[in-house]
Amino acid sequence: MSSGELNQREQYWQNFEAGTTPTSAQLHPEYLASLNSDDMILDIGACSGRLSREIVASTGGKVVGIDINVSELVLGASRSDGATGFVAASAESLPFENDIFDGGILVGVLAAVNRQRRKQFLVEAFRVLKPGSSIFVSEFERVEDDEEWTERYQHDADITGEYGNVIVPDYTDPNLPISFIGHHFEQQELDKLLHAAGFIGTVFRRLPLDTRDESGFGYLYSNICSWATKP
Ligand SMILES: C[S@@+](CC[C@H](N)C(=O)[O-])C[C@H]1O[C@@H](n2cnc3c(N)ncnc32)[C@H](O)[C@@H]1O
Repeated sequence: MSSGELNQREQYWQNFEAGTTPTSAQLHPEYLASLNSDDMILDIGACSGRLSREIVASTGGKVVGIDINVSELVLGASRSDGATGFVAASAESLPFENDIFDGGILVGVLAAVNRQRRKQFLVEAFRVLKPGSSIFVSEFERVEDDEEWTERYQHDADITGEYGNVIVPDYTDPNLPISFIGHHFEQQELDKLLHAAGFIGTVFRRLPLDTRDESGFGYLYSNICSWATKP
């Protein structure tokens, strides 16, 4: 896909070299336990397959991972034991027939794109899932009770036009003032998006998430997980 088809916010994610894309949001163990060994799961925004491999290890089933970052997909394919296939595609227009997957995951992907694009990603996921199967979404939860965070959200909203967006600088390269723009979600935002795309019966769970690196740099966040069914 040409970069002209993606907007600028998604292009930041295409720039990461293999193995360097920031990824921390998690699958929920309860969702993993609901999957079956003969399921074919679609990992939307799979990157190099961190979570695809977790699904295969847990269920013994198969996964197809799609992403716009080709170098991450190539890395994923080199690590795959054959249970995961990797396809270069954008979540907004999936190169698959209707009703073919037994489930899908979108982890840290809705946060990576502009607000106007998120519903379409879920509409496409809905289209390719079999009726009765579930889509799983996991994102960072918005921090409400910390002044440092609320000030940052306001500051970054003035620049990006959306409260909850977080402009993350590239701390290693002064020539790249922005590494990427993420978004921290409220539960209601995810619910609304899932329902707008046609999914029903949302399950909501929180997971504590420690994003500190070895030097202690980073923050503690809460990871929110929602999964819902295609009727
Ligand atoms: C925070 S990373 C999460 C990666 C992976 N889901 C994980 O948790 O390990 C966000 C991913 O979304 C991908 N992405 C961004 N825009 C996309 C789009 N339009 N279609 C598919 N993937 C996209 C990025 O390339 C990146 O790999």
